[in-house]
Amino acid sequence: MAIPVLTIDGPSGAGKGTVSRAVAKKLGWHYLDSGSIYRSLAIAVLKQNVELTNEPGIVKTAQSMSLEFECDDELVVKLDGEDITSQLGLESTGNAASVIAALPEVRRVLLQKQRDFRKMPGLVADGRDMGTVVFPDAEIKVFLTASATERAQRRYKQLIEKGIDANLSLLTNEIEERDRRDTERKTAPLAMASDALYIDSSDMTIDSVIEEILNLIR
Ligand code: DC
Repeated sequence: MAIPVLTIDGPSGAGKGTVSRAVAKKLGWHYLDSGSIYRSLAIAVLKQNVELTNEPGIVKTAQSMSLEFECDDELVVKLDGEDITSQLGLESTGNAASVIAALPEVRRVLLQKQRDFRKMPGLVADGRDMGTVVFPDAEIKVFLTASATERAQRRYKQLIEKGIDANLSLLTNEIEERDRRDTERKTAPLAMASDALYIDSSDMTIDSVIEEILNLIR
């Protein structure tokens, strides 16, 4: 029997992480935060002073890096044995991840690392190309989005609550720029799978999004 997969794709800041973690916990399924793989590679690349345009250099880093994911309530990620969790959420990490994620050979190397997360009793996978490229045979696919303004406002609130200084118009610009890069790249762009359910969470609470997805599974 195929191991069931629920894919949740969408742009950055749509709430995919929170929703996916909650749904995975409720179902007792595994969770793949594919963005954190691209983010971890970005951290490794920046550490090794490899240029973000040096595709062969980045591929080499991707092939040699060792990643460990520990997921209880919070995700803990170790890169070559070092805990890099606190660097994962930085805007600079996300932007660098989006740049290297546009390189086709880099995506190819990371494909199997993502598919390895498919284990019994099931997997919730969040990202940009989970339903289109990584798990095209997934039983249930969701495309979760929200307006760029709403996503920037949510991100702004998160940062301020953490005591991190933030600028709303700069965040909006960065989100729009990231959307453009993720959507317009040639390889595995951010796109809705033809068999996915579209959810716009702009005017929804996170709890109602979670409920809608759980109802879909039931
Ligand atoms: O979901 P996230 O914000 O953590 O992802 C960071 C970047 O990684 C995102 O801007 C593009 C890239 N990414 C990707 O290309 N494909 C995925 N499945 C997940 C992330």
